[in-house]
Amino acid sequence: PVDRAIRPKRLSDYIGQPRVREQLEIFIGAARGRSESLDHTLVFGPPGLGKTTLANIIAEEMSVGLKSTSGPVLERAGDLAAMLTNLEPGDVLFIDEIHRLSPVVEEILYPAMEDFQLDIVIGEGPAARSIKLDLPPFTLVGATTRAGLLTSPLRDRFGIVQRLEFYAIEELTEIVARSARLMGVEADPAGALEVARRSRGTPRIANRLLRRVRDYAEVRGSGRIDAAIADRALDMLHVDQHGLDHMDRRLLLAMIEKFDGGPVGVDSLAAAIGEERDTIEDVIEPYLIQQGLMMRTARGRVVTRQAWQHFGLAPSEAAEDAA
Ligand code: ADE
Repeated sequence: PVDRAIRPKRLSDYIGQPRVREQLEIFIGAARGRSESLDHTLVFGPPGLGKTTLANIIAEEMSVGLKSTSGPVLERAGDLAAMLTNLEPGDVLFIDEIHRLSPVVEEILYPAMEDFQLDIVIGEGPAARSIKLDLPPFTLVGATTRAGLLTSPLRDRFGIVQRLEFYAIEELTEIVARSARLMGVEADPAGALEVARRSRGTPRIANRLLRRVRDYAEVRGSGRIDAAIADRALDMLHVDQHGLDHMDRRLLLAMIEKFDGGPVGVDSLAAAIGEERDTIEDVIEPYLIQQGLMMRTARGRVVTRQAWQHFGLAPSEAAEDAA
């Protein structure tokens, strides 16, 4: 709700992702210098790392408008045609979850991206007619959790591809301190660090936890966020010392208790914990893998020794070999 107030608007307010920032600074600067639209840009990475924020920043830095939609919303060719014909020259068209476009909609997108041409068939049977319309130049910014989910013809039409990584704790601490300032909350450096440390490397989670820690500090403390208040609030929220949430622990414990640490196929795992396979692959496991708590192998998912230790358990002999 208050996200808009704390979301960075310019590249210079954007914390972290230094490689992405440097490249975009150059490509935006060059496009502006030539008075061109920015090349189509694909941004991918786990949820909450700032894909939508970057689309907004690109529009702001290019001084153009932004029109926003998402893959599943664009059901028919006409839905995309309506978006495309509504663009002003230079606009950013942001398509979230672009991997979920239907094949017919994707077909419309190719000539639009390549030649700023809208090719659309209206009517059916002998009365069907094909019409071609010139579109204004625009920048497509596509967002997806994994680049591998896109068809290769779509992926190949993006001139700029940026991968977002989980944030380092120092970067997240800076984000928490900045958000606290904008929210008018007093957070000391150790308090900001504690929230950051337990936010799964993800700004969206850090900002959400910050709001809940603020609530806790106002009701149970003086309103000021220090390390002790943050720690107590986060314990209350069942965010553990490693920053793992309920779902993270459920997944790891299922692997340990039901599959002796693995290897286990992702579909069996999904059934065991009652989650969608996509949620495991896109939301839960990327962080656990990055933290070295589990691995993807050719034979399935495996927890590492570190995961057993996290729960105060010792791996069985078989599990010791697998890990
Ligand atoms: N808020 C959310 N993500 C951010 C980022 N990368 N930089 C600054 N503030 C943010």
